[in-house]
Parts: sequence; structure tokens; C-alpha cells
Amino acid sequence: MKILVATDKPFAKVAVDGIRKEIEAAGYELALLEKYGEKAKLLEAVADADAIIIRSDVIDAEVLEAAKQLKIVVRAGAGYDNVDLEAATAHGVCVMNTPGQNSNAVAELAFGLMVMAVRNMYNGTSGTELKGKKLGIHAYGNVGRNVARIAKGFGMDIYAYDAFCPKEVIEAEGVKAVDSVEELYATCDVVSLHIPATAETKNSIGRALVSRMPKGGLLVNTARKEVINETELIELMDERTDLKYMTDIMPAANETFASKFPGRYFSTPKKMGAQTAEANINAGIAAAKQIVGFLKDGCEKFRVNK
Ligand code: 3PG
Repeated sequence: MKILVATDKPFAKVAVDGIRKEIEAAGYELALLEKYGEKAKLLEAVADADAIIIRSDVIDAEVLEAAKQLKIVVRAGAGYDNVDLEAATAHGVCVMNTPGQNSNAVAELAFGLMVMAVRNMYNGTSGTELKGKKLGIHAYGNVGRNVARIAKGFGMDIYAYDAFCPKEVIEAEGVKAVDSVEELYATCDVVSLHIPATAETKNSIGRALVSRMPKGGLLVNTARKEVINETELIELMDERTDLKYMTDIMPAANETFASKFPGRYFSTPKKMGAQTAEANINAGIAAAKQIVGFLKDGCEKFRVNK
């Protein structure tokens, strides 16, 4: 059995070593395709793969068609909007993610971006503190929970909204659960996004929500660029010169944001929320274990397609 690790944005070496150990201990062969750049290289590499471990790498119908022996794809991470689930099902391929394995890393980066924003991008001028500020956690999943835990250390006043998580679960963790997403934005000085990119959430963060934020509002995005309505956010930031946007996922309109809003906008060059050795080890080894469990015992825990 051949297990392909196909990561355009490679894991830390220590994580690859750990994945190799799991795969080889199960008697399988590991193939590594890193920084491949062009899709053609991925299409070639998947031809004889029985299983694939990916990150944000796109697994579409064409890739699935080229992967004649493929049985399982594991997205080492949380979001699986990069995998065509219907095409995978049609090809008889199981798709899994590794929920929770990289969420602390993403949550820590959200605070890195928050501190950078309130300290004026470290430009030497006097900024503000996070302590005592109202933090809104938009979606209370694995990352949202870690954000809440860290926010307690900062002494923030913590609010959350999640369409699917019961209020009691949120409040049991000492976080105020608001009744609507509108209330979250109207209440909070800082909103941290942790929603997945789905048909419902794409383009959903725009004028209607962000315009409700109090003066000096800060929007932090370590989720997905697709959830932002970039045109509306640019218009709003033009009108509201107090608003700031910090993102770990470079917008399509990065140049416009950067040129129009110096000091109020920052994007990492490449999504790096989960780019830590620890997150790579956790997610990568979990992916390898899930593949072994699936191929040897038919275990389908964490399957995300039907
Ligand atoms: C995730 O969905 O797990 C995160 O966005 C991390 O993505 P990455 O593996 O591409 O860094």
C-alpha cells in the first residue's frame, strides 16, 4: 500500500518523520510530494496512491479521476472545503479530517494578530490593551474554544455566537453566549472568525455585520478568505476609518486593502495559523493513524463524506 503525503505547504520535518514511522510500522510505503506548485505533479503522484494525506491541497474531480487506486484522503487539519466530497463519494473514496489537532496553533495566531493590531503594528506609538475589551468569538468549535481559553488569560470579556452549539455549552465555559450573530458584532470590540467556508458562510461577513462593531472595532480572520465580502469590507473601511482588519488568509484584493488601509490592515503572506511543529505533528500523525485504522480495520471515525 502506498500512502502519499501531498503538501504544497510542507509539514515540519519532525512531523514527516512521525508520519513515516506510523506508516512504515503498519507495513506501508510512504511517498512524499512537497511544494509541488503545479497540479500536473499532483496528478502524476496520485496515480498509484492508496491513501493521501493533504493540508489545504485541492482534491477535485480531476485528481480523484487520476487516483485510480485511491481509497482514502485525510485532510490533516479542520477545514475540508478543499476536497470535492461528492466526487470522492462517487469514486468510492473516504474523506476524513483531523478535528482539533491544530486548533491551539490557530488560536494562538489569532492573539498574535490581535496584539499586533492594538499595538499599532509595532510601529513604536502608544496602543491599547486587550485586557477588559469585549471579544466576540464567531463560531465556538475547536479553535473558538481555544481562543476563549487564551482570552481568559488576557483578562478579556468573552462573548460567543455559534449557530449549532447550545448556549449552555458555551456558558458552562464562562463565556457569554449571545442570541444572534448581529448582537455579537454590535457588542464586541474584537471579533475573531472561526466559521468554516460553506455555501451558507461564503461572503457572509460584510457590511451588515461589521458596520455594527463599536468604534475602533477589530476583525480578525484565521478562518477562510471566502467568508469575507471583500468589496463591502473595503467600502466600509473607507467610510469607517476606525476599523481594522487582520487576516491569516490573504484576500483576493490584498493590494487594495494594503494600499488603502496602512496601519489598519495586515495579512500574513501565506496561511500560517497551523504552521507550527506541534500542529504539524498532531494533525499529521493523527492523519497517518486514521489511514492505518481505515485500511486495516475499516474504522471510519472522522469521515466527512457520505
Ligand atoms: C485548517 O483548516 O486545519 C487550517 O486552516 C489549517 O490549514 P493548513 O493545513 O493549510 O495550514
